[in-house]
Formats: sequence, C-alpha cells, structure tokens
Amino acid sequence: MTYNFDKQTSRRNTNSMKWDFKPSNVHPMWVADMDFESPIEIKKALTKVVDSQIYGYAWPPNELYEVIIDRLSKNHHWKVQKEWIVLLPGLVPGLHASARVLPEDKSSIMTTTPVYYHLFRSAQTAGKKTTEVPFKRENGQWKMDFDKMKAELTQEVGMYMLCNPHNPNGRVFSRDELNELSSFCLENNVILVSDEIHCDLILDSTKKHISVASLNENIENQSITLLSPSKTFNIAGLGGSFAVIPNPEIRKKFEAAKFGIMPHMNLWQIESMMAAYQHGEPWRKELINYLKANHDYLLEEINKIPGLSMEACEATYLAWIACDHENPEEYLLKHGLGVSGAQQFNGKGYFRLNFGTQRHNIDKGLEILRKAFS
Ligand SMILES: Cc1ncc(COP(=O)(O)O)c(C=O)c1O
Repeated sequence: MTYNFDKQTSRRNTNSMKWDFKPSNVHPMWVADMDFESPIEIKKALTKVVDSQIYGYAWPPNELYEVIIDRLSKNHHWKVQKEWIVLLPGLVPGLHASARVLPEDKSSIMTTTPVYYHLFRSAQTAGKKTTEVPFKRENGQWKMDFDKMKAELTQEVGMYMLCNPHNPNGRVFSRDELNELSSFCLENNVILVSDEIHCDLILDSTKKHISVASLNENIENQSITLLSPSKTFNIAGLGGSFAVIPNPEIRKKFEAAKFGIMPHMNLWQIESMMAAYQHGEPWRKELINYLKANHDYLLEEINKIPGLSMEACEATYLAWIACDHENPEEYLLKHGLGVSGAQQFNGKGYFRLNFGTQRHNIDKGLEILRKAFS
C-alpha cells in the first residue's frame, strides 16, 4: 500500500458542502465527493499555479487534448478527434447545454428514473419536458425498460439522457444493453446524451465501462458524451470536464448554448485535469481497492440492520439502500446522519449513502443506522 486512504482528514470549517452545509452534529454521508486527499501530483500542479501569483485567463494547451484523446483510446477503445472535444467548467453545465440541443420540433427528453437529478432537471431549465420511464427489476438487477420506453416514445421525444455508470443504482450497463439503447435512439432519431462521470470507478472486476458512442459510427454521430476526472480523483470542486461531440451540427448547437453563459476553463481545471489523467493511475488503482473493501464491509453490515437492504454496487462510491421508512433522509437527519433521499432522484423507498470515506467514518455512519433502525 503506497497511499494511506485511512489517513484522517478534517474537512469541517473548510467551506466544504458535504461537511459544512448541514449542522455540525450531522455525520455527512451525502453529497458525492470523497474525504481522501487527491493524488500528490495534482497538488504539485496546482501549487505551480498558486506560486505564480498571477491568475489570469487560461488557454488550454494542446497537451490537454492529447491527454484526453490518449485516455479515450486506451481506456475506452474509442478514437476521438481533437475538434470533437468541447472543454467544460463542470459536467452539470454540459447536461444543461445538451438539453438545449434538442431539435426545435421536439419538446421532451426521455430518461430512466430514479437518476441523478440534473438529467431530468436539464429539460425543465431548457423550457422542455421530461419523459420519465422507471427502471425495471430483472434477474435481481436494475434494467432500462425498453418496452416501456418504446410505449412512451411520442413524436415529442428527441433526446435520451443516460447515466452510465449509474448514479444512484450503481449499474455498469452491459454491451448488450447499450447496443439496445443505441438501436432505440438510432431507429427513432433520438439524440443520445451519456453522462459517464463515474466511468473510472468500477468496483466489480467482472464489469467494464463501455462508452456508448464507441459502439458504432452511427450512434457516435448522434451522441454527446460527457466525461470528467472530477469524481474519480476527488477534484469535483474544481470542475474540469469535457464533452465529446463528433457530429458538427450537434456540436455547433452545443457551443451556441454555452456561449457567454459558461466560463472558459480556468487554470485550476486545466492543471488538475492533466495531472489526474497523466499521473493519477497508481492512486486510482489503490483507491478502487479501498472503496471495494468499504463496499463489501458496508454491504454485509447494512444487510444485518432490520428494515434496510443493500445490493452490491458495480460502480461508484454511492450505495443505494432500500428502506421502508417514509422519509429516511429526514428521519436519519434527526438521528445525526446526512444521506441523500430517493425523492431527489425521482424515486422512493431508498436513500443514497456515500462510502467514499475513511473506514472510521463508515463505522460511525453504521452506528447511527443501527441505533436509528433498532
Ligand atoms: C452522474 C453525475 N453527473 C454529474 C455530476 C456533477 O458534475 P459536476 O459537479 O462536474 O457538475 C454528478 C455528481 O454527483 C453525478 O453523479
């Protein structure tokens, strides 16, 4: 073990959303960032910026594009061209800009719920509607319900928003599922937006992340893929992200949607993204081992608590826990635990618990859960 993920970190009074937003007697296992120090190479890259004492406008170097192209080629087996890449100051802005790419004669964006809320909120903020299709259960797994999706597909629907790996249910969608989704979009002239922010956090070693746009040239040409090193390398507060948009017309509309309301990438984003992708791999590999151990421990302990049940996550550090309490978020807050309620994702009967933290914080969370549900 080269990195010490057990090292205690103190984030209280650091302007941390996770640690400082809720009252100080609440143990925070909600918002999706981790409590670990990022790879040292990121600190070094940011220190260079700090030390310059000049924080002017940034211009992304060609090297950043090369790093992205190289990563997508090696890890995603996807050959992308420089002009397809649109740099972004955050992934959520990318979802909202995508919603504005919806063709003028269409008024609705389809997504499968429960899901990370910006996937359905982006349609609303763009003045459009959402067509929500619930996940179905099949062979003990969460699956996209293609029968229902076809049934709900009206002339209004012009876009589908996918979250893969999935927040909050932790699925890594298989090649077959993605092929089916790709066919659904192609046959019905639906633009596919794929949020793949969690793609480097695969916990189940039998699963592999597949970028849906890499499946075939047709879907590549009808898609927007959104990516970032932010979740994986714990630089979510810095925001550096990017979209890959092979189709020039879709890209032009996306660029127009962000023009003037989205800042250019700043120095912190450029430096942290490059350092993460160029030097972060050894750290990431050990992170995955640590998260997997946390996950396995949590899985066992949660399932011993009456009224709670958890299934194994294929990816992410977010556990999706079934609970028969009407409002677990509110109930647990009273017991001193901060979790994310299912209603945030347009779901019910579940809460999301963030296990991207030191083991002693997991134990503290479990202690509160045991007391609350005893
Ligand atoms: C699926 C998904 N997309 C996007 C984001 C946030 O992206 P950003 O903070 O870069 O805007 C999150 C954060 O939890 C997420 O889970």
